[in-house]
Amino acid sequence: MPATPLDVENLSAGYGPTRVLEDISFSLPAGGRLALLGRNGMGKTTLLATLAGQTRRYDGRIRLGDVDVTPLSSAYRARQGLGYVPQARCVFPTLTVEENLFVGLKDRPKTDLQQAYDMFPRLFERRRNLGSQLSGGEQQMLTTARSILGRPSVLLLDEPLEGLAPVICDELMAAFSQLASTGDMTIVLVEQRIQSALDFADQVVVLERGRVAWSGTPKQLTADHDTVERLLGVGGLH
Ligand SMILES: Nc1ncnc2c1ncn2[C@@H]1O[C@H](COP(=O)(O)OP(=O)(O)O)[C@@H](O)[C@H]1O
Ligand SMILES: [Mg+2]
Repeated sequence: MPATPLDVENLSAGYGPTRVLEDISFSLPAGGRLALLGRNGMGKTTLLATLAGQTRRYDGRIRLGDVDVTPLSSAYRARQGLGYVPQARCVFPTLTVEENLFVGLKDRPKTDLQQAYDMFPRLFERRRNLGSQLSGGEQQMLTTARSILGRPSVLLLDEPLEGLAPVICDELMAAFSQLASTGDMTIVLVEQRIQSALDFADQVVVLERGRVAWSGTPKQLTADHDTVERLLGVGGLH
């Protein structure tokens, strides 16, 4: 599936009666790379889950290309090309790496697994190991690879670098950049490692208490020390 634009218009959502997101709007062109930033608890995970159709929506619209996916369930959104890699890594512990990847293939031939192995050669080395035997970095590679095998046109990644060693982070970020460079995917990346996210992205949205508090380019954000300090915390860029 070729990359599609993602358009979010006046989106408000939450959990049951609890409103978390208010009036979120942004547009990402086909093949765009958005870094979605903000301190803990500001609504980043809720926004990705809302795009994936897993929260309660009160208002607003979500479009993938020409398709208004707002009324669609999460399963149908996935069929429309929306790939979601949630913050909690979901690896089946009693299945091998290869069997975990089969889940992402759906009905396509096993030879298509090669795409996952080309992207993450380490998964090929570990293909006969059980999910429970993988390191955190390998689990992240596996969940990401499984999503990508579903050939999403828009990919949502929630803190893929969380808890990983720097060398693995570099490996994953290189893989995401390579995916983005094919132009086959529009990517939204949530990350606490701000510098990695800014190196990757061509657009940035910063959330504060469920609202868009800032948006612009990585270059503009890097130059705006006040915003970095105010919205992203004392640590700033690292
Ligand atoms: N299942 C839930 N039910 C009710 N409130 C939730 C739930 N999940 C998260 N929240 C609340 O939504 C807000 C945003 O959380 P979250 O989207 O996880 O933020 P982030 O990913 O930016 O850390 C927080 O105040 C959090 O307590
Ligand atoms: Mg989160």
